[in-house]
Amino acid sequence: KTVYLKDYTPPPFIVEAIDLDIDLRDDHARVRSRLAIRRNPNMRPSTGPLVLDGDELALESVKLNGRPLAQDEYRLDAQRLIIPQTPDALALETVVRIHPHQNTQLMGLYASKDGFFTQCEPEGFRRITFFIDRPDVMARYTTTIHADKARYPYLLSNGNLIAQGDEGSGRHWARWEDPFPKPSYLFAMVAAKLDRLEDTFITRSGKRARLQIYVEPGKLDQAGFAMQALKKAMKWDEDVFGLELDLDQYMIVAVGDFNMGAMENKGLNIFNTKYVLARPDIATDLDFQHIDRVVAHEYFHNWTGNRVTCRDWFQLSLKEGLTVFREQEFGADMYSRPVQRICEVRHLRATQFPEDAGPMAHPVRPQSYMEISNFYTATVYEKGAEVVRMIHTLIGKENFRKGMDLYFRRHDGQAVTCDDFVQAMQDASGVDLTQFKRWYDQAGTPVLDVSDHYDPTTQRYTLTVKQSCPPTPGQPEKLPFHIPLALGLLDRDGQDIPLWLEGDDAAHPPAGDGAPGSTTRVLSVTQPEQTFTFLRVPAKPVPSLLRGFSAPVHVRYPYSDQALAHLMAHDSDPFNRWEAGQRMATDLILKGIAELKAGRDLVVPESFVGAMARLLKGDEGYGPRDPAFAAEALSLPDENFIAEQMEVVDPDAIHAVRTRLARILAEHLRDEFSHAYRAHAVPGPYSPDAASAGKRALRNRCLAYLAETQDPQALRLAFVQFETADNMTDAMAALSILTHFDCPEREQALEAFYARWKDEPLVVDKWLRVQATSRLPDTLEKVKRLTEHPAFSIKNPNKVYSLIGAFSTGNHVRFHAADGAGYQFLADQVIILDKLNPQVAARLARAFDRWRKFDGGRQAHARAALERIRDTAGLSKDVAEIVTKALGGS
Ligand code: ARG
Ligand code: ZN
Repeated sequence: KTVYLKDYTPPPFIVEAIDLDIDLRDDHARVRSRLAIRRNPNMRPSTGPLVLDGDELALESVKLNGRPLAQDEYRLDAQRLIIPQTPDALALETVVRIHPHQNTQLMGLYASKDGFFTQCEPEGFRRITFFIDRPDVMARYTTTIHADKARYPYLLSNGNLIAQGDEGSGRHWARWEDPFPKPSYLFAMVAAKLDRLEDTFITRSGKRARLQIYVEPGKLDQAGFAMQALKKAMKWDEDVFGLELDLDQYMIVAVGDFNMGAMENKGLNIFNTKYVLARPDIATDLDFQHIDRVVAHEYFHNWTGNRVTCRDWFQLSLKEGLTVFREQEFGADMYSRPVQRICEVRHLRATQFPEDAGPMAHPVRPQSYMEISNFYTATVYEKGAEVVRMIHTLIGKENFRKGMDLYFRRHDGQAVTCDDFVQAMQDASGVDLTQFKRWYDQAGTPVLDVSDHYDPTTQRYTLTVKQSCPPTPGQPEKLPFHIPLALGLLDRDGQDIPLWLEGDDAAHPPAGDGAPGSTTRVLSVTQPEQTFTFLRVPAKPVPSLLRGFSAPVHVRYPYSDQALAHLMAHDSDPFNRWEAGQRMATDLILKGIAELKAGRDLVVPESFVGAMARLLKGDEGYGPRDPAFAAEALSLPDENFIAEQMEVVDPDAIHAVRTRLARILAEHLRDEFSHAYRAHAVPGPYSPDAASAGKRALRNRCLAYLAETQDPQALRLAFVQFETADNMTDAMAALSILTHFDCPEREQALEAFYARWKDEPLVVDKWLRVQATSRLPDTLEKVKRLTEHPAFSIKNPNKVYSLIGAFSTGNHVRFHAADGAGYQFLADQVIILDKLNPQVAARLARAFDRWRKFDGGRQAHARAALERIRDTAGLSKDVAEIVTKALGGS
């Protein structure tokens, strides 16, 4: 059954307080809950029944105002407990039995290696106790946990520890009280044997907060970086948004079995180990960076998510889009802003653009869902962040801050909607955002078709911008979006021209960025077709369009190779300098694919090779002479991205041409790559800081190119790096190169790596991933064998994502094999996994999304695989939603 946004009604009952008592036993847990409930005063007069959500709960007793209810005084079905007759205010007590050890879904309360953990967002709390499990029901929580003392020394929940003690038979208990009313999805508890790292943070108003990170015993030496990340994030949020921690104690617990990345439970974040644990020899630069960002993300949720939460799950982007935006700004301030932006856009294009063009396309605020867990998507998160960023761009930094202040002044302690957020931004800035709000409700990636005209006699330069948006499921027609189009114009020397628009008041230009006469302007595109005229343009310029990727759209403009080379060399906007190179490479590969089909070899123009060479040398004009930037600019667009640019995807041709291009570059620039490889060695002990990481990134990109020559010496060089590296970044980079080549070093390195790291689960994940993403033709066979390997477990989401997920989303050419073997394999795995963990199974099944873009043969195989999943008995609604949408029904 489908849930619709338009059907939202406020809850007929509210829960003011909940007193939970959780007794953890060897094969079950007993949960007693006392709820203080009353009818929602805003919903009077109301006489409806009291309906509580519950999932896989064995009800032992239910009492209303202290009196046990008889069998005929309530109804119980698979998902609900219904009490038809209730007073307006009542105390409801239920006792249920649950089975955390059998909870393979990892939603609700579950057992993992070191103890018991919870995940409640979005609808896991109902798997712990009967409750009105929706985010607009906010209650005060008191939680008492009982467990064996030796096996589970730490008993944690949200808020403050108010009492604890022993209770005989080697057991103990602890009681926690959370002073902040919260929705059930923010509840958490942990009972485990862990090691604890402690620190303190003095907030800007002088309050001393205790910070604690709990990790698997023996791993304290891997928790330090996350603690520093937390402190950086706390300081940043005070400095940039004036937001301070509101708790005396802030805890992070790491667990190896976790469906997603991390969870912002009030005062008790629970994290996937992969976003906490790090040490130079086991984590890469990218892992360190992700830890910084995820720790910050969850911390930022304390205000954007927890203090102000979502009215309903359709509003998920209210907290996620905004928090991702905040996390991105934090990342930009901690690392290189342009490089962070490049990576974010690359990620958006790799995940969200295809989503927006496929069967699961949905607006940032979805209008319906079958299973809300399926909507923790790139659209809600990453496009949601782009929508917030566009508001920031349109109203400016200062107004954005005022808007945030107003948002908290109005809505602190409330469960609100995306409209409330935009309203605060509008009221604080005075900028009309009515049309802008369509971004929340219309799916699909808009296209801007840009054309231009220069008139030398009047020195007028006119840009014509047409916007369109392809149809998406349920939305055949779209209304025009309000699109901020940031742009600049470059003259022949590569200098920015001051921008005077027709209609500007040239006599009294307001000061500041984006003002008349400045070199980057933000045009508000609001009509289906619009023209913008620039005055006093001395010669035909090269337009630098969509600077900084100011909107999540496709821009089409007929750039010549020279114009792209000009932008690549001179654009003052680093993002567009990168973008120009990517466009050139994409055009080249697409042309090469056409040539290949005509039986001709790829032709690589000198302009492209020359541009790459200048990037490597860090020539004047190609700055910032930032190795991290050069590493990005030297990366060819990946196969998934090229596939999205084609009418009918030919994965073999894409792979062949892209690999060929890399090889040609490598052969032309062998000396330059060798030289840069040597020149960017990072001396001294490892540090994950941005500058060192940038050098390593460039160096390893060079090594990857050198290997493309397939020169045995280059492979040898990679192997030597693998063997001598004192850090995981360089070791892993070498291994990811070797994995593609059928050489003795490959097998030797893989074996040595496993032997050394088989007891570090996060490193074993890397070992699985690197094999799953190999371009070698027998990769699927290897992946199948690895599913039987002791290193793999289908019950652990990280293992599943590293092996099966990496193969199906990170190995385009092998997953989309013409014989359909990749599709069959994925279908088999989805079917097996669905019985254990439907949420993760559904995520895997998303790899089928783009099946209709392939040729008839592949489509037939994909359809058969999808139908086989669909027709499996007892399929979860999670997977059912994905496959029925993929097959085009509902
Ligand atoms: N709110 C969490 C975050 O973004 C993600 C939780 C996702 N949970 C899920 N079941 N899909 O930080
Ligand atoms: Zn989040």
